[in-house]
Amino acid sequence: MGGSEWCQLVRYNVVLTYGTFDLFHVGHLRLLRRLSDLGDKLIVACSTDEFNLGKGKVTAIPFEHRVEVLEGCRYVDQVIPERTWEQKRDDVQAYGVDLFAIGDDWAGKFDFLGDLCDVLYLPRTENVSTTELKDLIQRMRASESP
Ligand code: CTP
Repeated sequence: MGGSEWCQLVRYNVVLTYGTFDLFHVGHLRLLRRLSDLGDKLIVACSTDEFNLGKGKVTAIPFEHRVEVLEGCRYVDQVIPERTWEQKRDDVQAYGVDLFAIGDDWAGKFDFLGDLCDVLYLPRTENVSTTELKDLIQRMRASESP
């Protein structure tokens, strides 16, 4: 499923997504809003600092604060930690997930969950990302320095 022609025929009970959500931005907000519209409960698995470091990714905002921001978001019902790549099948079963959904930068990567739940890739919001925000901040600091 995916694309702008997709229309919702099913309302899900539990929707699950994964992500870092560092420097929370409007792309994150729009994704979470769309996901919460798809079901009754939205669970976000937020990747820990250690898991990110293992991927060579350094977060600007520590895990506990990223969790706090997500928990404060009206579209999110529950936040759990993402500690490993392998936990997804266990999470889907443990939390009774019937839709796994994530941005389409991951298109096809999680199709292996398709025997347990529906899998959906949503279009990303254009022209915003944590990486771009970090680059922008660096450029602003560089232009300010004497
Ligand atoms: N996302 C989105 N639109 C954006 C940016 C992110 O829909 N413009 C979605 C991603 O597809 C993912 C979730 O938000 O499902 C969390 O993405 P994350 O990797 O934390 O954010 P990015 O801004 O993509 O971070 P980075 O630049 O570090 O990859």
